[in-house]
Amino acid sequence: MQNLTRIHLINYLKVSNDRAEEAKLYLKNEGYLNEDFLPIKEDNSIFWPLNQDSVSFEGTIVKRAGLSYTKTSRDYRLSLDKNIRDLAPRSFDIFGEIAIIRIADDIQVHEKEIADALLLSHKNIKTVCVDMGVHGDFRIRELRIISGEDTFVSLHKENGMNFKADISKVYFSPRLATERHRVSLLVRKGEYVLDAFAGVAPFSISLAKRGCKLLSLDSNPEARKWAVENFKKNGLKSNQYTFYTSKFEDYDFDKKKFDRIVMNNPTNSIPHLKKAMDLVLDGGSIHLYHIASKDNSFDISDYLDFGFKCTLKREVHAYSPSSSLFVFDIGKNLH
Ligand SMILES: C[S@@+](CC[C@H](N)C(=O)[O-])C[C@H]1O[C@@H](n2cnc3c(N)ncnc32)[C@H](O)[C@@H]1O
Repeated sequence: MQNLTRIHLINYLKVSNDRAEEAKLYLKNEGYLNEDFLPIKEDNSIFWPLNQDSVSFEGTIVKRAGLSYTKTSRDYRLSLDKNIRDLAPRSFDIFGEIAIIRIADDIQVHEKEIADALLLSHKNIKTVCVDMGVHGDFRIRELRIISGEDTFVSLHKENGMNFKADISKVYFSPRLATERHRVSLLVRKGEYVLDAFAGVAPFSISLAKRGCKLLSLDSNPEARKWAVENFKKNGLKSNQYTFYTSKFEDYDFDKKKFDRIVMNNPTNSIPHLKKAMDLVLDGGSIHLYHIASKDNSFDISDYLDFGFKCTLKREVHAYSPSSSLFVFDIGKNLH
């Protein structure tokens, strides 16, 4: 039995019950959920405990007495020596059973202790590796294992779906779970969707599960291998999807047109927007991911053809101190 004790005031995000899971996913992905405290349910609302003063999710920030577990804490840093504890990364990404952490140069000498503390406190983690950045056209993450099992292959669960991949050979970001869920709620059954930079197909599968038909492309041959396995793993039939190893700009679309196009290649999506606009049907949409300055100097309308309109701009997550990943929902001839 866990012992519950009331303690000092902390920030909570209050959201309505119908957005509770979406809010939780967002907070978890961003590392904003304070997992040392319990959520509070009240009437038609849920209060998620935060480790931040503000978050970009619709809801109200309120201060309340935090309800905590006294027996164990989920903060892996508590088992580290005081001198390392405050320097060790507070948040990290998880792909299946693999934890991906960023280690600043000045604490590299302590990386093994940090990784072992993580393995000890999170029984679901079997491998801890260091993230040395994403590189090249395939956007592959350079990784180095510090502790645990010697593998980069894992099965990641997201929004009730399963994605398997070797994350040292293909791109995957667990931080896009909220985005994939958001876009999947916008589609109508029967839509024909192009996932132009598909990776191991997390967007494609999220939309195919909602009844869309998918054409998915990726220039990295390794992506197709995992994508096809993932389509099958998630119960999708072969007539619902086609996946080609091809560059978007080289693929011959013949007369094909799409209800929706997902362009998730945020470091190089703008040069391909013109071609995407030629491929979208009237009333259709493009979801374009782009890394831009946080100062709002980037204006997507500078790149839109006549008849196209940006209907939503959302900051998905921070990318660097001065830039963020943004999504732009763009509609064609909307009435
Ligand atoms: C940021 S990743 C996104 C992958 C996937 N959509 C996801 O959410 O995990 C971009 C992907 O685009 C692929 N790529 C890069 N340039 C491309 C191009 N010109 N045509 C098609 N795919 C490309 C990369 O191999 C990579 O898998």
